Formats: sequence, structure tokens, C-alpha cells
Amino acid sequence: MAGNITLTMIKPDAVKNNHIGGILKMINEAGFRIQAMKYTRMTREVAGAFYAVHKERPFYGELVDFMSSGPIVAAVLVKDNAVEDFRKLIGATNPAEAADDTIRKMYATSIGENAVHGSDSDENAAIEAGFHFSAYERF
Ligand code: CMP
Repeated sequence: MAGNITLTMIKPDAVKNNHIGGILKMINEAGFRIQAMKYTRMTREVAGAFYAVHKERPFYGELVDFMSSGPIVAAVLVKDNAVEDFRKLIGATNPAEAADDTIRKMYATSIGENAVHGSDSDENAAIEAGFHFSAYERF
């Protein structure tokens, strides 16, 4: 059975360009409930740990530099079939390939600076939600 949570981060590019409000509006209008949320900044070490699954990828260093370059908004979102539905809402990793009316089509500028993160599986959603939030921060 599909799980009902996913973890998102509004990335430093979207925060810097004042898109927090627009992105949260799209998330709410798509039927996601916010279970936990924080405005924070990851150090290089924290960003490296979050993206450790990509450690061997050629873009890992760039990804860690970018994700620690400024503040982000991290949130746990709740909805039936959350992981898959949220990935549909955010669109393809490369904004050039993202469908119309997706968050990345509206707000992302490149494959590296692509406005939002969304968990890619129920298993990773649980790991990533636990990475950013304790049980006491989730309601
Ligand atoms: P995200 O969903 O946060 O998960 C992994 C991230 O790696 C992805 O979004 C992209 O921002 C980034 N990424 C994927 N492919 C590339 C690439 N070719 N160059 C730079 N960053 C990439």
C-alpha cells in the first residue's frame, strides 16, 4: 500500500527568488496537509548527509554546495499516495522537461537549481522526514 507522507524542501534558489508563498499555495491547493515545517539552512555536512545516496554521482559536490548555499523550507506533507502525487505536482527533475502547471515548470531554472525536492519512495520519505524533524515537531 502506498504511504501517505512525503518530504519536501523549497530549495535555496526558490527561497532567494521569493517563491516560498507561491510554492506553498500550489502545495495546499493540490490537497497536501502540512504535518511539519521549518525554515533552516543546512551546513555542507548536513546537506552531504541528506544526499548521501548520490555520493558517487558526478553532480554530488555541486548539489551539496548549492543545497547549503542559503536557507531552505523543509516540510513533511500528508496526502494519500503522497510520494507519487507530489512528484507529479513538482514535475520532472529537469525543468525543461517539466509539464505545464508543475512547480518546477513555474519556478525552477535548471536541473541543479530546480526549486523543490520531493522524496522518491515511501521508504526514503520516512528516512528524510526523520532527518529533518523529530516526532515532537510533527502534528
Ligand atoms: P532532488 O529531487 O533534490 O534530488 C537529487 C538532486 O540532484 C535533484 O533534485 C537535482 O537537483 C540534482 N541533480 C540531478 N541531476 C543533476 C545534474 N545532472 N546536475 C546537477 N544536479 C543534478
